[in-house]
Amino acid sequence: QPLFLVDGKNKKNAIKSLPNIFQLSIDNALKEIEACMNVGVNSFILFPAVENVLKNKTATYSYSQKNFYLKAIKEFKKKFPECCLISDVAMDPYSSDGHDGFVENGKIINDKTLPILAKMSLAQAEAGIDIIGPSDMMDGRVGYIREALDIKGFTETSIMSYTVKYASAFYGPFRDALDSAPKSGDKKTYQMNPANKREALVEAELEYAEGADFLMVKPATVYLDIIHELKQNFPIPIAAYHVSGEYAMLQAAAKNGWIDYNKCLDETLLSIHRAGADVIISYGSKDYA
Ligand code: PBG
Repeated sequence: QPLFLVDGKNKKNAIKSLPNIFQLSIDNALKEIEACMNVGVNSFILFPAVENVLKNKTATYSYSQKNFYLKAIKEFKKKFPECCLISDVAMDPYSSDGHDGFVENGKIINDKTLPILAKMSLAQAEAGIDIIGPSDMMDGRVGYIREALDIKGFTETSIMSYTVKYASAFYGPFRDALDSAPKSGDKKTYQMNPANKREALVEAELEYAEGADFLMVKPATVYLDIIHELKQNFPIPIAAYHVSGEYAMLQAAAKNGWIDYNKCLDETLLSIHRAGADVIISYGSKDYA
C-alpha cells in the first residue's frame, strides 16, 4: 500500500485526482498502517510531499536529519517492527526542477545524480528502512547504491529497483499528490519508451547483475507482457506497480456508476498476478484485502 506523507500533525489532505488516498502526517499515517495491518496488508511504500521552500537543485533535504520522511520511517518501525517499509529514492520530491535526476543546462546528468541517490539511500537505511526503492531510472544506480550500503554495513537492506519504468502518462495523479511534475521538459531521456519491449530485458539484465533483489515493472496493466517477459527470464521476485492513473480510472468510472469498483479491482490485480508479478503495489491494496 503506498502512503503519501507530509510534515506536521493531524494532517489528512485529500488528493483531488486520487480518491480515498490522502497526504498523511506521521500520527495519522500510524493509524492508517494499523488499519491496513488489521486486514493483512503489512508492506508500505512511502512517498514524501515536501514543501516547495525545502526543494533545491541538489535535493539536499532528502538526506537532511531534519527530513520528516526519515523521522516517519523511524517512528513506523518503532511502533510496528513487523511491518515492511519500502522507500522511494529519486530526486523529484525534493528537486526544484521536478526531475528525478540532477539538471544542468536543461539536461539530466546521470552520473552527477548517483552520489545524491546514494546519500538518500544511506539516510533511509540509517533510519531503518527494509527495502530501498530507486524510482529515478538513472543508469548504474543499483550497483552504486548497493556498494554505498555495503560499505556502511547495511548488507541486509534490500533493493527493489524500478527496473522497467516507462515514460507514462498514468503517473499524473501521483505528481499532483506530491506537486512534483517536471518544471520543464519531460522524463523521456531516462524513463523508457512505451513502444520498446526488448530494452526491458537490457535494463533487467543490468540491474540484476548490479544486485537488485526485486525487479519492478511500472505501470502494470498496460505492460502485462513486460511483467511476463521478466518473470520468464529472471530468477528473482518480479514486482509490478499498479500506478496512480490506473487506480484513478477505476475510481472515476465507479463513481459514475459505470463499473463495480471491487470487482474490477479484483480482476485488475488478478491479471497482474497472472502475468507473473510476485509483488503488487496498488493504491487499492487495502480495499482489496
Ligand atoms: C518518481 C515516481 C513516480 C512514481 C513513483 N515514483 C512518478 C514519476 O516518475 O513521475 C509514480 C507512481 C504512481 O503514479 O503511482 N520518482
